[in-house]
Amino acid sequence: MAEDTARLDPQATTDPQETIDAEIAQIEGDYRAGVEADPSKEESQPRLNYPPYRSSLLRHPTKDLHHTDPETIELYSPAFGHRDVHLLESDLTIQHNGEPIGERIKVRGQVVDGNGRPVRGQLIEIWQANAAGRYIHKRDQHPAPIDPNFSGVGRAITGDDGSYEFTTIKPAPYPWKNHHNAWRPAHIHFSLFGTDFTQRMITQMYFPGDPLFPLDPIYQGITDQKARDRLVATYDHSVTSHEWNTGYTFDIVLTGSQRTWMEDEDHDH
Ligand SMILES: [Fe+2]
Repeated sequence: MAEDTARLDPQATTDPQETIDAEIAQIEGDYRAGVEADPSKEESQPRLNYPPYRSSLLRHPTKDLHHTDPETIELYSPAFGHRDVHLLESDLTIQHNGEPIGERIKVRGQVVDGNGRPVRGQLIEIWQANAAGRYIHKRDQHPAPIDPNFSGVGRAITGDDGSYEFTTIKPAPYPWKNHHNAWRPAHIHFSLFGTDFTQRMITQMYFPGDPLFPLDPIYQGITDQKARDRLVATYDHSVTSHEWNTGYTFDIVLTGSQRTWMEDEDHDH
């Protein structure tokens, strides 16, 4: 099975989970010791070059970022207005003729800046696997069923108080080819555009208590536990509806020291 995987994807590795665990532990230990010696070394953002996350080795930037002129870029970038996003687009369970399979959930939250001020009119896009852990994406070929009633994409605009809400299906964990028997914790991808189109930010929301957290090189790529915790939604019974859905809250901080962890745009897991 491992050889099959390697043949399908030349980047796939056959390292066992134990190898990944040992690398994660080593980096974590070095990080903790470094912060103990010098608290200013605390990190809130993911490492771009994090060896247990194999493809980050090939992809991480090795040169300084180029600064571009945002005004020029925005002349050519797509633009959207409030009327372009329909309220129903935030409900991922009504996009087809039938009901998708799985646990219906609502995810509600607020987008704020570093001073806690609500960010209104913010476009939020989400994408996710279905209740069997399968994406519609053609690169996802693992043997779990596609749900014909679930595309796994939605979008919403934040209200005046920075709030948003999605209705969707709880995604399942899924395998990926980072190493042998590698599984991602269940997650929903979030994209936000900040205050203009050149500030696109992408992150992932996780579910509380996921047993895959200690094993996942993407989650572990954030070395600071407080920063990791900000990516985990909270079960919220006030968002749960009688005989209809369970509910979670997930607030997003765009700037400042409590900023929500954001990843580069090349991740596809
Ligand atoms: Fe994913």
